[in-house]
Amino acid sequence: MDPGSLKHYHEHEFDPQDLLNDFALPDTDKTLHEEIFLFPMKTLQTLTSSGKIAGKTLIDFSSGPVISHLLPIFDYFSDVIILETNDFCMREMEKWRKKEEEAFDWSHLLEHFSELEGDSKKWIEKEETLRRKIKNMMICDLSKQDPPESLALPKADCLMSFYLLSHICKDKEAYSEIIKHVSCFLNVGGYLILAGAFNVKYFSIGEHKYHSLTMDEEYLRKALEDGGFYIENLEKLDSKLSSSLNKYDQVFLASAVKVREPASPLVYSLPAPVVYSLSTPYSSGGEPMARVPEVALRALSMGTRAITPLQISPDRTQGVLQSQAAQDPRRKLK
Ligand SMILES: C[S@@+](CC[C@H](N)C(=O)[O-])C[C@H]1O[C@@H](n2cnc3c(N)ncnc32)[C@H](O)[C@@H]1O
Repeated sequence: MDPGSLKHYHEHEFDPQDLLNDFALPDTDKTLHEEIFLFPMKTLQTLTSSGKIAGKTLIDFSSGPVISHLLPIFDYFSDVIILETNDFCMREMEKWRKKEEEAFDWSHLLEHFSELEGDSKKWIEKEETLRRKIKNMMICDLSKQDPPESLALPKADCLMSFYLLSHICKDKEAYSEIIKHVSCFLNVGGYLILAGAFNVKYFSIGEHKYHSLTMDEEYLRKALEDGGFYIENLEKLDSKLSSSLNKYDQVFLASAVKVREPASPLVYSLPAPVVYSLSTPYSSGGEPMARVPEVALRALSMGTRAITPLQISPDRTQGVLQSQAAQDPRRKLK
């Protein structure tokens, strides 16, 4: 496919109705539905059921006109904030929130999902709760990389973004930058949940084919780790799709913990002490760290050679660590 003939999200508008018709109707191509919608929903449900991914604020980057990806997660947060760049998508969401007559009918997915949770009859209640929890919907163009402070938003305990980041990045460098930018919206210790596809050839909305960065697992891992994240889970599903709308090798769902600000020493902050016995070879700052939160252990598992406590609170749940990479001692982990 000639890359010049592809459309770009940030240059060309798209019609949310086309997206809903192509991907979200009950009679959508079964494989497409399974791969794009059901696989990440089920995977996310498994992750959230552990109770680890929870907090006050969940920010969703670019729901578009879609609510399905919020279903397995919104219950674990008090407030949901939606950031989206497209006015038409916002309007479509508004219709659903206000139960307008022409709003898209999500009952088939809600019912299916509530059934997975054990009670298909709960879907009406679930939909209502989601409506209530969405506290804010704001216009935000991620490609402009405006500082989060300009939106006057609280830092989130979880960020999610489904099928967006690689569509708005022209190359891998831009992808790495956007991961770092997105991280600014998140508290240290919070989770980033990303869904996307590896080795996308093209994807379509309506009759238009759109650009998407061709990226593999190795690059995703690198971009997240360089951006200050520790990847806890990366689930993949091989594509069996034979469709003129979309072509990709795998869909993925990644969950990653923010262990540090993108350009600072390793910072950790956990709500409760996680007690570990860590023997002295790992601590190089004089004081042996007898109780080290999980995040510090993750840093070690990521190839950190030594960690030096710069500041540690008396209960050892808050602190700043300076860490050194295992491979290249000159390169301090950012
Ligand atoms: C493929 S849709 C994904 C919709 C939904 N998350 C899902 O799972 O189906 C991508 C969304 O990203 C939005 N978007 C496009 N460019 C953007 C940008 N620069 N900043 C933020 N959102 C953008 C689009 O308006 C669209 O709603």
